[in-house]
Amino acid sequence: MSDAERQNVTAPWIRSQKRRNGAPPIVMITAYDEPFARYVDAAGVDLILVGDTLAEIVLGYDDTLQVDIKVMTHHVAAVARARPRALVIGDMPWMSYHLDPYDAVRNAAALIRAGAGAVKLEGGSLRLPAVEAIIAAEIPVMGHLGLTPQSVHAMGGYRVQGRQVDAAKTLIHDAELLAEAGCMAIVLEGVPEVLAERVTEAIDVPTIGIGAGPACDGQVLVLHDLLGMSKRSRPKFVRRYAELGDAVVDAVGRYCADVRSGAFPSDDEAYHGSAELRGALSQGGHSG
Ligand code: KIV
Repeated sequence: MSDAERQNVTAPWIRSQKRRNGAPPIVMITAYDEPFARYVDAAGVDLILVGDTLAEIVLGYDDTLQVDIKVMTHHVAAVARARPRALVIGDMPWMSYHLDPYDAVRNAAALIRAGAGAVKLEGGSLRLPAVEAIIAAEIPVMGHLGLTPQSVHAMGGYRVQGRQVDAAKTLIHDAELLAEAGCMAIVLEGVPEVLAERVTEAIDVPTIGIGAGPACDGQVLVLHDLLGMSKRSRPKFVRRYAELGDAVVDAVGRYCADVRSGAFPSDDEAYHGSAELRGALSQGGHSG
């Protein structure tokens, strides 16, 4: 298929992509800036998530609680400038949808104005009023259940969720509530694969897994984890497809060596002045 024939991905199309109906798995990946948005789009992903992992991956914080709506819109706009075919999902940062539904809609709208085609937010029944208000404002919403990093303090750390029967049943119920509210898809993070499978069976909208096993309708990874560029510890569900961090150190190391040895820049890498200019600027020929 040529680039011209590739259609832009839309929220209703994603919503229709259930594997049990014959759809192929959805591919989602994070990106936080224009160049990487271009690269991942050229590689053919369906969804680009401008995740709040931005805080850890690009900005060097220890958790995702450190970015606000202003920072998120800044990066959504950068990604949108790549004009990707993939649908851009703007992640709603911590405290941008927790206070009241009005605030949630206003902040979701800021991400849409910055160039997102949908927003994602974490949580189940507790966040239903926010989800319903945003959907009522005709902004597509992606849910996010399981290990929801914005709840790190409430969870007591980053732990696999839904291991106990009661917690698993609550998570299935939350997924049903989000699907009934009209979410376009639901991210399932850090849950046992059997639970992800049950959720995927229970709802009519796609599930997108991260550390949730192979039964989901799609998968998402953090780009810098996959490329070998992140400093955080690697959970077992991250598959490394490259070691770009090492490649960067190697390339910049060779640049350092070349500058220090005088090998860079070479004559070919310099702009040459005319004979007249060289004469006028030659030692002694410069009259001030
Ligand atoms: O912020 C993020 O990158 C995410 C993914 C890990 C799903 O929410």
